[in-house]
Amino acid sequence: MSRKWVISAATAAAALFIGLGAVQAADAKKLVVGFSQIGSESGWRAAETKTAKTEAEKRGIDLKISDAQQKQENQIKAVRSFVAQGVDAIFIAPVVATGWDSVLKEAKEAKIPVMLLDRQIETKDQSLYMTAVTSDTVHEGRVAGEWLAKQTGGKCAVVELQGTVGSSPAINRKKGFDEVVAKNPGMKIIRTQSGDFTRAKGKEVMESFIKAENGGKGICAVYAHNDDMAVGAIQAIKEAGLKPGKDILVVSIDGVPDIFKAMSEGEANATVELTPNMAGPAFDALVAYKKDGKMPPKWIQTESKLFTPDTAKAEYERRKDAY
Ligand code: AHR
Repeated sequence: MSRKWVISAATAAAALFIGLGAVQAADAKKLVVGFSQIGSESGWRAAETKTAKTEAEKRGIDLKISDAQQKQENQIKAVRSFVAQGVDAIFIAPVVATGWDSVLKEAKEAKIPVMLLDRQIETKDQSLYMTAVTSDTVHEGRVAGEWLAKQTGGKCAVVELQGTVGSSPAINRKKGFDEVVAKNPGMKIIRTQSGDFTRAKGKEVMESFIKAENGGKGICAVYAHNDDMAVGAIQAIKEAGLKPGKDILVVSIDGVPDIFKAMSEGEANATVELTPNMAGPAFDALVAYKKDGKMPPKWIQTESKLFTPDTAKAEYERRKDAY
């Protein structure tokens, strides 16, 4: 072998070595994020989990998801375990709004940034989390209420299916809707109860409302804090021999494929969209913080848009595989 070839081979080997080293260094910098997810109570929740995985993959982030099965105590355990593992950040979709201070203090002491996804918490110490990626859930309730007020000329006996007791969307979606009711003397919430954001509970509670209200004849509309409960309510209305979307109007929140299907079949009337992509903006904020030290705003607000049956068929087609 000539001397020139020996040098080239050595250079190639060195380049390969440096290249591998660079890959190893990049690998070593791969961000690890722990995500304490609530569970899988709704179609929207399943879509949020799926989207979080896709968005993590896109960015080469190692995402560790812990399913809390709707229990705050499991979420607290998960956060503690992420702290012990020394992850780069912790995402939490908090099942309820209160009771987070002490575990978040532990994350803060370990210098691990915490980002809230889709739900807010109640705390006096705002430094316990870096940012919250959520919609304006009060506004969502308002949008649903305003749509109903317009549709009924401000006269409507409403039954309300609330979300999980103590969760920020249940508190706020009620608040926003109540504001509209207060402005319309002919609008009344005649019954209200939690359906825990699930289809089965939504159906069960709606059945009891129908029974209590003369077989449903006294009900003008059902306002459900999420689409899954609305889908359960639709089932209950049908089983009672009434026509959902006509005899009883149906308005809800989320924008999942099933509600668009119901709307296209004339069985639901309106939904306020909540994007399931909460993790994407959180990852972007985290990367900007880790790379350039850029502090995100305290609230990264996602859009809330009203959808009605006119676009339902197209929206169903567009969403059915993405969810
Ligand atoms: O926090 C978001 C809410 O939680 C969604 O509206 C609902 O479907 C989910 O369970």
